[in-house]
Amino acid sequence: MSVNKEVKRITTHILQEMKARGEKISMLTAYDYSMAAIVDEAGTDIILVGDSASNVMAGHETTLPITLDQMIYHASSVVRAAKRALVTVDLPFGSYQGNSKEALNSAIRIMKEAGAHSVKIEGGVEIGESVSRILTAGIPVMGHLGLTPQSIYKFGTYTVRAKQESEAQKLREDALKLQELGCFAIVLEKIPAALAKQVSESLSIPTIGIGAGRYCDGQVLVIHDMLGINKEFKPRFLRQYADLYDIMNGAIKNYIGDVKSKSFPNEKEQY
Ligand code: KIV
Repeated sequence: MSVNKEVKRITTHILQEMKARGEKISMLTAYDYSMAAIVDEAGTDIILVGDSASNVMAGHETTLPITLDQMIYHASSVVRAAKRALVTVDLPFGSYQGNSKEALNSAIRIMKEAGAHSVKIEGGVEIGESVSRILTAGIPVMGHLGLTPQSIYKFGTYTVRAKQESEAQKLREDALKLQELGCFAIVLEKIPAALAKQVSESLSIPTIGIGAGRYCDGQVLVIHDMLGINKEFKPRFLRQYADLYDIMNGAIKNYIGDVKSKSFPNEKEQY
């Protein structure tokens, strides 16, 4: 990891210290250079190159279609922009489930070809061997429990997970296992806030919540959702900080109007 002289890069060690002193961790997704530069410059601690790129960048209904090559393309653009943030990249569906060797090879490609700083992988004890093998190669791993969108066809819906005690208990055990294996953080997606609180308090590594309430050690949102670029997606957990869809739509309509009315370009805007 090359460290810029003026800007201190966030490391997995710094994230642990932040949890220890009770400082909340901010994480946002980005998939391209220009957006990542804005997200990084604003001071976001972790940039996640999420497989949500499959939805927001490519327009797929689920995260399943995105390929490892496509994730590497998105990640390399983000890494070029991120001066301070730790960049974590999702291992996409189909790039790690086969066996732990496949998982390691995919993680190595992400680190080597994109220059990422860590990878994220969905699942608990069932992917323990893959997590261990990736960690053995010196690659930091972030876990992801609760609603794991790559398993959407198993769940059948995107509703809140782990409301039943049996599923909650499995999640507690999975979280402890991922910590024991050496994960540096765990995303908790769409689970009851009380469960996320219990899990966060039981771990020494940070939890990063999305739809998991205020007691997680950090929060993550998909950048297109929080900026209001994505008009249709408005789940209860989402706080929308801007209305970029309307701003961009208005600007584009003004441009079209100016072109049609021949007011753009004017005398000063030509050579
Ligand atoms: O792919 C993604 O954006 C994610 C976050 C929602 C945590 O996994």
